[in-house]
Amino acid sequence: MASSPTPLASLTNRQVRLAARPVGLPTRADWNFTTEPVAEPEAGGIVVKTLALSLDPAMRGWMNEGKSYIAPVEIGAVMRAGGIGVVMASKAPAFAVGDLVSAGLGVQQYCSIPAAELKRSGVFRIDTRLGTPEQWLNVLGMPGMTGYFGLMDVGQPQPGETVVVSGAAGAVGQTVGQLAKIKGCRVVGIAGGAAKCAWVVKELGFDACIDYKAGNVRDELKAACPKGVDVYFDNVGGEILDTVLGRLARKARIVICGAISQYNNTTPVQGPKNYLSLLVNRARMEGIVVFDYTDRFPRAVAEMAGYLKDGRMKSKEDVVEGLDTFPETLLKLFNGENFGKLVLRVASA
Ligand SMILES: NC(=O)c1ccc[n+]([C@@H]2O[C@H](COP(=O)([O-])OP(=O)(O)OC[C@H]3O[C@@H](n4cnc5c(N)ncnc54)[C@H](OP(=O)(O)O)[C@@H]3O)[C@@H](O)[C@H]2O)c1
Repeated sequence: MASSPTPLASLTNRQVRLAARPVGLPTRADWNFTTEPVAEPEAGGIVVKTLALSLDPAMRGWMNEGKSYIAPVEIGAVMRAGGIGVVMASKAPAFAVGDLVSAGLGVQQYCSIPAAELKRSGVFRIDTRLGTPEQWLNVLGMPGMTGYFGLMDVGQPQPGETVVVSGAAGAVGQTVGQLAKIKGCRVVGIAGGAAKCAWVVKELGFDACIDYKAGNVRDELKAACPKGVDVYFDNVGGEILDTVLGRLARKARIVICGAISQYNNTTPVQGPKNYLSLLVNRARMEGIVVFDYTDRFPRAVAEMAGYLKDGRMKSKEDVVEGLDTFPETLLKLFNGENFGKLVLRVASA
């Protein structure tokens, strides 16, 4: 069993804690920065130094009170976040000092993971032969798995079908569109801005992309999907969902992955007005929560790593430096400033 070569007592842990439940967009006042000493791991536990954190739209939901697929972050608690880190000290037989791991590290510099949580919470060593640590937060990580299972299990795309994905240049969207191309579909993205649209077409090989900030989505969707939409992978909800509902093909499948356009609402969520299109088109709409598929991640990761290796899958990350930038960096997700998977780099290995 390895022990720590670094005197942990000499280290301090800077942390970002939830100070208040935000109304609308979170502000810096909704966060508290704290510092505490780093303790040796408990028997069977490990201490991990955070290298990079995944910043996710879901974080906005975790800041709210109320029932969801996961408990809210308590006021005063370290903000929940997945990340990649390096094991600094280990009293767990399965982990050695120096191992790179994926874990729920939280927005902090060091994370102590007790034995019970190691078993429960899906902490695993990452294989850097398959992808970089950033790719393990993107295509090989939670967003990639969301895209994979949302598309393959819920969307069930068939070769020749038309797949539309919103948030197309983001973490989940880039995986969905590329995977749908690999599976032989016609792929139309919806994204904000000419640069993102050009990138998904020229770099990722989508057949078309609609700039929802510039154009008339309804008319452009009609032109881009002359036979209708067989699979719509929805990352944004709101008006775009309604517009796509108006263009469904018979037996269409709509994957409800997220609704980022609604997360900072101070009024109730805007529901789909066009839902009777499901009836007319004998279509269905189904939600997906990625955590339901953890048992199947290893095989999906192996498949995606193969596509990365043979060049059929690209992985774009938007990396921002520094734990202290967290409050502002998180907002990039909601104003569309992130271009690719948003990653917060906290330290080097
Ligand atoms: N169900 C699950 O298990 C699961 C897991 C992971 C993620 N998700 C969901 O998947 C979605 C995408 O997540 P991600 O991590 O891949 O984020 P992302 O797409 O990398 O980043 C968020 C993007 O959303 C777009 N956006 C922001 N506000 C918008 C608005 N009002 N209308 C339309 N688009 C808007 C922006 O892109 P533009 O510049 O294109 O506007 C922004 O870059 C989110 O809804 C998230 O909650 C669900």
